[in-house]
Amino acid sequence: MTTTPQHQATALANPNIALVKYWGKRDEALILPWTGSLSLTLDAAPTTTTVRLSDGPDDVVSLGGQPLDGTARARVTRFIDLVRTIAGRDDRVVVDSHNEIPTGAGLASSASGFAALALAASTAFGLELDRRGLSRLARRGSGSASRSIFDGLAVWHSGHDDESSFAEAVPAPPGLELGMVLTVLDARAKSVSSRDGMRRTVDTSPYYPAWVERTPIELEEMLAAIARADFTAVGTIAERNAMRMHATMLGAEPPVRYWGPASVELLDLVANLRGDGLECYATMDAGPNVKILCRADTVDELASRILEAQPDIGVIPARAGRGARLITSEPGGSAGEQTTEGAR
Ligand code: DP6
Repeated sequence: MTTTPQHQATALANPNIALVKYWGKRDEALILPWTGSLSLTLDAAPTTTTVRLSDGPDDVVSLGGQPLDGTARARVTRFIDLVRTIAGRDDRVVVDSHNEIPTGAGLASSASGFAALALAASTAFGLELDRRGLSRLARRGSGSASRSIFDGLAVWHSGHDDESSFAEAVPAPPGLELGMVLTVLDARAKSVSSRDGMRRTVDTSPYYPAWVERTPIELEEMLAAIARADFTAVGTIAERNAMRMHATMLGAEPPVRYWGPASVELLDLVANLRGDGLECYATMDAGPNVKILCRADTVDELASRILEAQPDIGVIPARAGRGARLITSEPGGSAGEQTTEGAR
């Protein structure tokens, strides 16, 4: 591919939280999932990443101002290798990334991280990707990153090969304004990465085939609930799907358990708040932190009710947010914000 590199680009991407989860790959190299998934991109806790082409001897990668090494660095440089291959160039890069949320604690930092990296790196190397292409590229860094390219709700079609596995936006009809409160119960990085946890589940859980059979049905139910702006159905399906994902992991050998006692207390609190008339639903990912789905206009009330009951935890209130976008690119790129549309 012939490209005109921009030399440097900075992109910002927000995390997304799945309402129908991705758990398990059928192709580890291409990151093709067994099932499709659906998520909400948030307006909080973004990752900002700058990629600069360099003529140094090696890639330099830092996160939060600290140089990365080991597996974390290798994941980034392998991803940059892929971008170099697509662009037909062999420049080294300097990657500088900053997260506003704890990294690796099941708060979706790999989704925002690889979405921002995909946009910044593809722009720096001069690749002109449309959003589908960007979603496919981000997927190769981390599956869930494929969805953070888009505003608000996004569905990731499992597909059957590199080309057919991408995410796209799902329009939210009027009347379905979603919000979410993320709780920070434990900000430490998880002991089993989602990558290892899902591999172990696929390889050893006798419940995994049931997950593969059920999830496409739940995804269809979710899309129908969204189309009719039925918040109660959206929340009910999301909570059930999250519990089923954790059930399949608990069946692995040895079991994969991300919950702690504080998570269970939060699950009870969500049920109690719902009983009191504040309609909200719990979801959890590869970490102990519970995320609570609500209507956008109840986010603040929900956050304060949670803090009233659990004054020592952290909460991050969020609503539907924008997909990945460029915030600078030079030379030739305009300064200031662009959407991914503007990055074409
Ligand atoms: C539980 O996207 O982090 O958050 O593709 O191996 O990088 P890799 O996994 P990742 O997994 C996310 C799993 C999840 C559910 C979801 O976001 O759909």
